[in-house]
Amino acid sequence: MSAETAVKAFKSLESQDFRILQVIEAAMAKHEFVPKEVIIKYSKFNMEEATFRLEKLQKFRLIRQTKQPYLGYALNYSGYDCLAINAFLKAEIVEAFGKPLGVGKEADVYDALTPKGERIAIKFHRLGRISFRQTMRKRGYTTERTSWLLQSRKAAEKEYEALKLVYPKGVAVPKPISQNRHAIAMGAIEGAELAEWKEVSQPEKVLKEILRNIRKTYLKAEIIHADLSEYNIILKPDNHILIIDWPQYVTKNHPNAQQLLRRDVENIITFFKRKHLLEAKTDRAIAYVAGKGKISTIF
Ligand SMILES: Nc1ncnc2c1ncn2[C@@H]1O[C@H](COP(=O)(O)OP(=O)(O)O)[C@@H](O)[C@H]1O
Ligand SMILES: [Mg+2]
Repeated sequence: MSAETAVKAFKSLESQDFRILQVIEAAMAKHEFVPKEVIIKYSKFNMEEATFRLEKLQKFRLIRQTKQPYLGYALNYSGYDCLAINAFLKAEIVEAFGKPLGVGKEADVYDALTPKGERIAIKFHRLGRISFRQTMRKRGYTTERTSWLLQSRKAAEKEYEALKLVYPKGVAVPKPISQNRHAIAMGAIEGAELAEWKEVSQPEKVLKEILRNIRKTYLKAEIIHADLSEYNIILKPDNHILIIDWPQYVTKNHPNAQQLLRRDVENIITFFKRKHLLEAKTDRAIAYVAGKGKISTIF
């Protein structure tokens, strides 16, 4: 179910195939599996054309079929990926796809090129990927299934929103470029998750840079990342950092804002203590990011 399936199938798709995918997408708001007659009605294809297209899309695993209690079709993640890819190509945000950059818990990130030849990253959100089979097993036939589509789109919208709030304030994040369905286009970054680095040079400096960025996010953009850890911080080859993975952000006036801010800071401080033997004072660090203290007092 990685974005690879969509990127490979995409080249073989024609406009008629996209029409079918779009019809299924729209009708999935109402139907868990969209009846074949509904697909025929809204696509305006005849039976023969519709059957040919549906079989093709199914062969590429972009849709799946049910025969009971009626003949119907539902979008797979790969079909949804294709619709987002098509939108990015049409909007001239992307010209070509490259290789996978990272398959995370809840997303697939892909490398792409813009028409101007710049490298960017496309993140496809994949919510409910883990619980999908469990949900199916427990509930059998339900409408639960369609919600992954909506959930993933919501996550992408929210992450894009966060990037647009913090990027202009100078927080170190990938540059937001565009969003469509469950996908966001952003600047490509080089480096690896902080957790992956065996050795970090000048860890004290790196920790301070992270705290400065948390502070800027809180004081200037007035939001909190709320899922911060060594896995969502990229350390670049130049020893500077970037904060990624923002769909869970909350605003400063969220009822749990203070706890979430504390947890973000604690996660980072604990990591540096465990892995890099840095003794930073958590309370001072929290005061600093909230604008109530100096960074020079945290060690
Ligand atoms: N803009 C980007 N450029 C390059 N690689 C990225 C970018 N964003 C994410 N990645 C890679 O994809 C991985 C997963 O991304 P992340 O946003 O953390 O999603 P998840 O929800 O799956 O954790 C990251 O750890 C990183 O390796
Ligand atoms: Mg992540």
